[in-house]
Amino acid sequence: MTYNKKTIEDIDVAGKRVLVRCDFNVPMKSGVITDKKRIVGALPTIQYLAKNGARVILCSHMGRPHNVLDEKISLNKKEKKKIAELPEEEQKAAEKAALEKAARDVSELSLQIVCDALNELGIAAKMAKDVVGPDAKAKAAALKDGEVLLLENVRFHAAEEKNDPAFAKELASLAEIYVNDAFGTAHRAHASTAGVADYLPAVCGYLIQKEISVMGKALENPARPFVAVLGGAKVSDKIGVINNLIEKCDTLIIGGGMAYTFFAAMGNNVGTSLCEADKIEDAKAMMAKARERGVNFVIPVDNIIGREYDENTPYMAIYSDSIPDGWMGMDIGPVTRELFAKTLIGAGTVVWNGPMGVSEWKNFAAGTEAVAKAIAESGAISIIGGGDSAEAVERLGYADKMTHISTGGGASLEFLEGLELPGIACLQDK
Ligand code: 3PG
Repeated sequence: MTYNKKTIEDIDVAGKRVLVRCDFNVPMKSGVITDKKRIVGALPTIQYLAKNGARVILCSHMGRPHNVLDEKISLNKKEKKKIAELPEEEQKAAEKAALEKAARDVSELSLQIVCDALNELGIAAKMAKDVVGPDAKAKAAALKDGEVLLLENVRFHAAEEKNDPAFAKELASLAEIYVNDAFGTAHRAHASTAGVADYLPAVCGYLIQKEISVMGKALENPARPFVAVLGGAKVSDKIGVINNLIEKCDTLIIGGGMAYTFFAAMGNNVGTSLCEADKIEDAKAMMAKARERGVNFVIPVDNIIGREYDENTPYMAIYSDSIPDGWMGMDIGPVTRELFAKTLIGAGTVVWNGPMGVSEWKNFAAGTEAVAKAIAESGAISIIGGGDSAEAVERLGYADKMTHISTGGGASLEFLEGLELPGIACLQDK
């Protein structure tokens, strides 16, 4: 994949209607946005376009709603299955209730709340009631230079996730240029993230440009030594990333729940720790690959283990080769915290993805905190994959010490895996 994509600065936007795909899939609690980072992250692109006289049409998804703007709302597979299991006489009423609940997604997952947030942040955006319906079309056509319109949740149409060409074409017809700035959704081949690029000149916004230039450089030409720190619960989620990074890095640090599959591969007892028996051979192959390539493979030497998966379970520190039956690994231990921190000293580039333990519980958060601190103090170019590690870095107050915190969870993982992201592949090369 090439990381050198045309940007909004490479194209004349004055007086043009520009469709901008953002990732406004913001976390919500009781109808309130709990973290506006993704909205704030989109501002530089929106501001540049508006300042340069574009007629800006923003679009995004939020959550995984029903297709409430389609002629016929359909229930998802899980709901249909649940209803089919009910006694026949109850099925009709259950279906009606489920459809009514689905229709409520309109208010729960409407982007109106994002429109309000944009206005609070100084972007005078107007809201369209639909995506490709009469309201969106009329409001897009009436836009003046520098004005901003936000379309309704693109996933209110089933055709969005199906990447339906007719829907993509209709969406594209609102504009003359397409800008993708939704890094968090770039791993999805949907109509608004990739399909529209078949019908419009397509370039990236500042947010995607930063993500791919920082992470692309780490993959292609990193400042060395290049240290990859990978954690998280399951090794099965990270096999692709580990394999790709083994080919690029000098040191690979493994922590989190997935370390226990590696311990099992080394013949250690892992008690009741999370261990994916069907991935033990993969773990062996990854360790052999690291050895062959001369990669320094660093794994926990001790652990904090607990009696059961509970916040208040009794716990203790123990060496990795001595985990007793009936105990489970919940975090890296104190010796490993020091070992990992020492390994990070002098690194040129660090990529971190995934917590070291059950970091949301205070008794098992020390490993993740120690790694976050060590990366912040390492002086290295530091790249934090989205999701849990990004959240930890923010919560612990190290965000401003990191070079780059990715706005994409799944997307940054696929990027680091070396996969082609459809939302980036569809953009014009420089
Ligand atoms: C995310 O939050 O990871 C992105 O917005 C993608 O959302 P999705 O997993 O529902 O496609």
